[in-house]
Amino acid sequence: MPLTVLGIETSCDETAAALVRLDTAQADGPGQILSNIVLSQTKAHASYGGVVPEIAARSHITSLDIIIHEALQTANYKVAQLDAIAATAGPGLIGGLMVGMVVGKTLALASHKPFLAINHLEAHALTVRLTQGLSFPYLLLLISGGHCQLVSVEKLGDYILYGSTLDDAPGEAFDKAAKLLGLGYPGGPAVEEHAKQGTPIAIDLPRPLTGDGGCDFSFSGLKTALRHRAKALEPVAKQQVADLAASFQTAIADCLCERTQNAFQRFQATHKPQKLQFVVAGGVAANQLVRQRLGACAEKNGFTMHIAPAALCTDNAAMIAWAGAERLRLGQNNGSGDKLDMAARARWALTDLTPPL
Ligand code: KG4
Ligand code: ZN
Repeated sequence: MPLTVLGIETSCDETAAALVRLDTAQADGPGQILSNIVLSQTKAHASYGGVVPEIAARSHITSLDIIIHEALQTANYKVAQLDAIAATAGPGLIGGLMVGMVVGKTLALASHKPFLAINHLEAHALTVRLTQGLSFPYLLLLISGGHCQLVSVEKLGDYILYGSTLDDAPGEAFDKAAKLLGLGYPGGPAVEEHAKQGTPIAIDLPRPLTGDGGCDFSFSGLKTALRHRAKALEPVAKQQVADLAASFQTAIADCLCERTQNAFQRFQATHKPQKLQFVVAGGVAANQLVRQRLGACAEKNGFTMHIAPAALCTDNAAMIAWAGAERLRLGQNNGSGDKLDMAARARWALTDLTPPL
């Protein structure tokens, strides 16, 4: 039986709505994306060098109804034909989350459909099931602007946290490095572009925490070191900017690989002889060097690496709709969804989740 769910995503600076279909006869997907509309607010925040929460929330209010309408129209669906409505409930910027939740709840109430409050991190974690139909369990590296986690995904709602960042997320580090080097916003693609002309070993930068055998991350010291190196070079020539960008990108890739290597060993110890699957999600997964290095490391350790297409790695609503469909299929609250008085949550760890009731 097919389940069709409308997903709403407003946790950061993308206003997004999507319709996704899950076939309940298939245990692990893949799903069918009927529409996937994303309106990026990048331009509205560019002059501030980062996302301004108040501006983000206001933009969601202005655009969300139009985006939802477009998602329904593209899929040629009416609200009455949906099986449920899912919205990101957290973690994220509270103003934006409240906008998405209120709209989602209102649609659900008015159309007598179940409402599903979705954890944004769980949605990232499950995206490869939507795109590739990957079965549980797998090791997940989530690397985005707001998050950095190594997680063993055991089953829906059952996550074991191996490690997370003690300070910045890698996307945030890329964004701050780009700002420091005057490369604009968003920083990741800009740093990657400039790094192409640079030498990765030109500038000596630290690899925080490496060698301790753990799976946690730290990027703020790396960013501070970059600032000191850049200051020492002032006035920084064009080639030196490229060298700083290339060295910074390589340091991040080194840290991600070393930490993931430790996670591979831990996952292997508890999951062998099952097939060893490794998933990379989040905006930083778009970085070619990061992909290349993680891919090589996975292969060396006997893991198969999976990365969703770029548009589904970054924030989108198809992943929210899919997470909702997966939860609905397993009878979240007996198919009636979540309570309508459920509040948005700025902080909401993956490990706080439980399998559907
Ligand atoms: O997953 P995402 O769209 O949003 C969050 O949930 O944070 O990730 C956005 C982050 C930004 O920090 C951006 O700079 C980074 O992903 N990013 C990249 C690249 N493309 C996007 N970082 C490094 N290299 C890239 N090519
Ligand atoms: Zn995200």
